[in-house]
Amino acid sequence: MSKALDLYAVAGNPVDHSLSPRIHALFAEATGQAMEYTRLPVPHGQFDVTVGAFFEAGGCGLNITLPCKQDAYRWVTPARCDAAAARAQAVNTIVRHGDDYLGYNTDGVGLVRDLEHLGVTLSGSRILLLGAGGAVQGVLPALIGKTPASIAIANRTAAKAADCVRRFGQSGVPLRVEDAATTTATFDLVINGTSAGLTGSGLDVADGVLREAVCYDMMYGPKAVFVTRARSVSRYGAFDGLGMLIEQAAEAFRLWRGVHPDTRQVRTLLGAQVERGR
Ligand code: ATR
Repeated sequence: MSKALDLYAVAGNPVDHSLSPRIHALFAEATGQAMEYTRLPVPHGQFDVTVGAFFEAGGCGLNITLPCKQDAYRWVTPARCDAAAARAQAVNTIVRHGDDYLGYNTDGVGLVRDLEHLGVTLSGSRILLLGAGGAVQGVLPALIGKTPASIAIANRTAAKAADCVRRFGQSGVPLRVEDAATTTATFDLVINGTSAGLTGSGLDVADGVLREAVCYDMMYGPKAVFVTRARSVSRYGAFDGLGMLIEQAAEAFRLWRGVHPDTRQVRTLLGAQVERGR
């Protein structure tokens, strides 16, 4: 009898349109890894039982997507998380070692690698982050690690931006709260980490800010309404988060399989923007 393939999945709700199965199938093919990757829908309030059953059945690892990243952090337990996941209190990748489960957050690495692909220089740059929720907290440590000149955080609820500044501010990189609608500051890079595209409403950010910056939307597809606006305003270009999705997946794949896939072919196949050589 042939041995079942190592099984992985993306867990969240919804997951029916997730690109992750396609991305990991392409990685597996390119690297010659024998594995299977499926979707694991998590009914509301059923994270522990759903994920427990997946691993009980022999599952080897999971990607975690919205709205389950905090559940995954709790499930793995903070002591079994890497530094990025612990700081963000959010896990997007679970790696199984026998009966031991480790939690990682590869979103920050994914964002930084995509920006590098796009030719965006982070070191010494002035960054404006829109949003202060889980998505922004997940990528802040990796952005700080690239030693930008400053990071300003603008959020609809200013108190949450202030909380981020307090939590992540002891890093040597100046962090501050900003009002994106009225600011007169200039930024090199504006990153949308809000879920405004999901709720269908626009973001309160001045056109002048977007005009003078490279703009990046952590969303992709129809939800990426910020990038549509930024493309018509920015003098330096605007990009959606498809490349980030691919790069965070590549890092998860490396953690599971010990081999880092070449992302270029997948980027081309899925239509992610290629290097611009700024
Ligand atoms: P996620 O894990 O996706 O970051 P979250 O933690 O609920 O989800 O955070 C959502 C972020 O998008 C928050 O920064 C939220 O602003 P508030 O803190 O004021 O709620 C922001 N957001 C969502 N819809 C928005 C909108 N229509 N305009 C501006 N900001 C919005």
